[in-house]
Amino acid sequence: MRAAVRFGLESVRINRGDGSWFRHWPRGALTGRFGSHRGRFDPGQRIANIAFVVTLGTLIVTGVGLTMVKTGPDFVVLVRVHRFATYALTALVAEHVLLALGVLPGYRGAWRSMHLGGRTSTPTARRLWPRSVTNRDTE
Ligand code: HEM
Repeated sequence: MRAAVRFGLESVRINRGDGSWFRHWPRGALTGRFGSHRGRFDPGQRIANIAFVVTLGTLIVTGVGLTMVKTGPDFVVLVRVHRFATYALTALVAEHVLLALGVLPGYRGAWRSMHLGGRTSTPTARRLWPRSVTNRDTE
């Protein structure tokens, strides 16, 4: 529960400098030189987190609705929203897999933070989440 609350709070935070991080994102993705940010998640991750929660939540709510409403205009609306949420979720998953594969040089090694225990190397953490690396980690 505490992790879910922290995930939510960290995902909706907006810091000064986030806009600059987005402006420098193409350079960061291609070279690893991302703009700085002050979050536990980078600004792009924060948007992806919210979008995952919204699309999955929409699928569950409209999906449950579809099991109860079988015909009529409500069914048409529910199925449309359900389908649209499916497209959005598919795009999000594709983006997630693209970054995890490390095809973009800036995201090489990022997959280790997502899977197999979530431990990533210090250079990768410094590149993607500079605030997570303390001086002690680099000694
Ligand atoms: C990752 C989650 C989900 C995805 C990607 C997904 C995707 C889809 C898609 C693509 C359709 C076909 C819609 C169309 O005809 O164009 C569909 C139909 C349906 N979904 Fe889901 N769905 C998800 C979750 C759920 C959940 C949680 C429920 C219910 C608890 C649900 C209930 C239904 C029902 C009842 C239909 C059939 C509507 C009909 O009678 O044509 N879905 N879903």
